[in-house]
Amino acid sequence: GTGKFFVGGNWKCNGTKDSISKLVSDLNSAKLEPDVDVVVAPPFVYLDQVKSSLSDRIEVSAQNSWVGKGGAFTGEISVEQLKDIGAKWVILGHSERRHIIGEDDQFIGKKAAYALNEGLGVIACIGELLDEREAGKTFDVCFQQLKAYADYVPSWDNIVIAYEPVWAIGTGKVATPQQAQEVHAALRDWLKKNVSAEVASKTRIIYGGSVNGGNSSELAKQEDIDGFLVGGASLKGPEFATIVNSVT
Ligand code: G3H
Repeated sequence: GTGKFFVGGNWKCNGTKDSISKLVSDLNSAKLEPDVDVVVAPPFVYLDQVKSSLSDRIEVSAQNSWVGKGGAFTGEISVEQLKDIGAKWVILGHSERRHIIGEDDQFIGKKAAYALNEGLGVIACIGELLDEREAGKTFDVCFQQLKAYADYVPSWDNIVIAYEPVWAIGTGKVATPQQAQEVHAALRDWLKKNVSAEVASKTRIIYGGSVNGGNSSELAKQEDIDGFLVGGASLKGPEFATIVNSVT
């Protein structure tokens, strides 16, 4: 692995004030390995509640952000507002935003650049669809999505790449450690050739897609897997802690 292990919990569009206050209290009492960066991403409306009740051990992320400075953009949330409530990260380019909402590479690249320029860390998601994998296009698709970030971002210092094969998200069909490792190694190689050897060796590449307390330690053993982006299993405090603690 590269640098400190990084585990993010993406709560997606789930939770209520009550369920989130229970999840926060479970996280606050969980024993977490000290040498792991831990981040959770609640829905926007609960960000402030989570930020003010969660232990400082865990950083808070948004699940999206507006592409520029705030203003007359109904329904959007600006990077400045996220910083104002204490968020340190934003998840961008998630497959649900690409494929359900229709965000494209260029828009995502611009969002990443804006967030980084304003000092937020970016969890930059990429990943192929099942038919793309079956057509042998996994690397092409992932490289193209990665290139879109590379074309826009001012620096890679504050970026974590999340490789999330779309067929593995929320399906219970986790990538095998070999499948994930193969793509992670290819992404690192792409960074080396197209950005720099230093960025390739320092940038953390985390895996997402049906990670749970039972499969995380085998995945974590892979050379180029530097952590996880967890969806469903991050809604359960003890299981999320197990995943955090699967660092090797
Ligand atoms: O951002 C998280 C991923 O989409 C993974 O979700 O763990 O529910 O498969 P999942």
